[in-house]
Amino acid sequence: MEVELKARNSFTAFRGWMRRGLALSFVFAATVVFAQTSDWKAPPTAVNRPNPVPANPNTIALGQKLYVSNCMICHGQTGRGDGPGAAALEKKPADLGARIKAGETDGELFWKITEGRSPMLSWKGSLTETQRWEIVNYIKTLAGK
Ligand code: HEC
Repeated sequence: MEVELKARNSFTAFRGWMRRGLALSFVFAATVVFAQTSDWKAPPTAVNRPNPVPANPNTIALGQKLYVSNCMICHGQTGRGDGPGAAALEKKPADLGARIKAGETDGELFWKITEGRSPMLSWKGSLTETQRWEIVNYIKTLAGK
């Protein structure tokens, strides 16, 4: 009887440990996945590509129009990643101003907008190259906001 009880107790303890271990490995896996997804790097040729569209009030205004109609839903008015559509995504949209402050180049932004990465789609087919560079000019103004 006593032996049986002991056995049962240690089984319960074992189950408890298993559950904790499982929970821990989930947390660990999630951390690994997160670390990978937040590390989105453009190839060096793209990073160093110069912006052929000069940043001036005209091209910034054009970029703003495009941003408001295509990007704001997820990235938000000031680019923080808090647009009305962001909550439904499995991944928070990047804080664009923070990335620019951290030193992201025009070419890098352009490449990411062009290629996309789930859940953000690629803008290659729906925006021209010039339009994508204009958006870069606009989102760079968000770095100070
Ligand atoms: C459906 C929501 C959604 C829309 C619409 C969207 N994005 Fe994104 N965007 C995201 C998400 C989510 C990420 C993060 C992707 C990742 O890190 O894997 C992202 C990442 C980015 C990045 C990369 C930031 C970095 O340095 O890692 C840029 C630049 C960007 N978006 C610009 C834009 C622009 C410009 C538009 C409009 C033309 C746009 N996005 C539209 C959701 C969206």
